[in-house]
Amino acid sequence: MPLSMPQTFSSRLPLLPPPTRALPSPAAPLNHRLGLKRWMVAESPAMLAIAARAQQLAGYNLPVLLLGESGVGKEVLARMIHDCSPRRDYRFQKLNCAALPEELLESELFGYEAGAFTGASRAKPGHFEICDKGTLFLDEIGELPVTMQAKLLHVLQDHRFNRLGGRQEMFADVRILAATNVNLPLAMAERRFREDLFFRLNVFSLHLPPLRERTDDIPALLDYFLERHAEELGCEAPPLPPALVERCRRHPWPGNVRELENFVKRYLVFGEQAWLDGAGDAPAPPPARPARAASQLGEGLKEMVHRVTSDIERETIARVLDDSHWNRTLAARALNISYRALVNKLRLYQLYPTAPAGRSPLN
Ligand SMILES: Nc1ncnc2c1ncn2[C@@H]1O[C@H](COP(=O)(O)OP(=O)(O)OP(=O)(O)O)[C@@H](O)[C@H]1O
Ligand SMILES: [Mg+2]
Repeated sequence: MPLSMPQTFSSRLPLLPPPTRALPSPAAPLNHRLGLKRWMVAESPAMLAIAARAQQLAGYNLPVLLLGESGVGKEVLARMIHDCSPRRDYRFQKLNCAALPEELLESELFGYEAGAFTGASRAKPGHFEICDKGTLFLDEIGELPVTMQAKLLHVLQDHRFNRLGGRQEMFADVRILAATNVNLPLAMAERRFREDLFFRLNVFSLHLPPLRERTDDIPALLDYFLERHAEELGCEAPPLPPALVERCRRHPWPGNVRELENFVKRYLVFGEQAWLDGAGDAPAPPPARPARAASQLGEGLKEMVHRVTSDIERETIARVLDDSHWNRTLAARALNISYRALVNKLRLYQLYPTAPAGRSPLN
């Protein structure tokens, strides 16, 4: 079905100056599974429909918002859109909006001139500049601080921006793809996400369903990851017993495809024991300690559950931070939460690095 663009949309789009070099024509639509395999495994009707839609949208210079739980394949889809677009010979650049503090985000996006701030000894181009004629993938856009949302909106409107500390206005022809697992309507209602930015990014959205809702993808994903990781690990891909495949189909996979992939890696090393080690991707729980009976503490079931979960959460965060030598970006990634969420937890649980003394946990 050809994509028809409503007149109202096209008339509101910014008029771009003609590109200095002709962009290649859109890639031929990939309407068979073999072609799709270059990017992703999709067997379920839901994923095949999403992939077809993504390829259809690829050729249009419009933003696409990719929605779905963590690990469902938003980045995989973003790369496919770029590779199927006329921009495929130019840069695909990802920026994780949750992984960097606000000031760094700004300099990463817009670049800076020498002397713009302490430590800026040399000028550096930002993502908008280096992505000219390419695609900028703004991951975890729901975590972008509100002040940065205003700045991003500005450049999305007219494609013009200034490097930090720079006087010369710059122009970049960048296609934006954005992804989030945050509920944006709720974030807008709570004034954590600007409506105008939402409408600018949400020209088209693709919602990737969680793996538990597309179990037809599971056998093909298992085969794909087995083959790929067996090769990486230099071993033979063992056959998967049908009972194990069935078990995988019934498992809820809260970490989605990423969790399944990690299970396959464990399976290659430990065999079926991998399942006993936990199919889940969550960090191993901290060493067990005797649970105090709720009745002994005079607390109700709800309070007890809250206390125990908080204890586990605190200890898990502390352990992961120790393992990453207090590198918060790495720790947040290992815990599969945003940088900001991690910083909030550090405050909540009053977690501080042990040395050097007096250092703030939030730097
Ligand atoms: N359909 C798929 N086919 C093959 N590999 C996939 C597919 N979906 C996801 N993956 C793999 O699963 C992992 C997670 O995918 P991806 O990073 O795209 O998820 P995401 O939705 O962006 O997650 P997050 O919200 O945590 O950033 C990656 O290693 C990716 O290669
Ligand atoms: Mg991602």
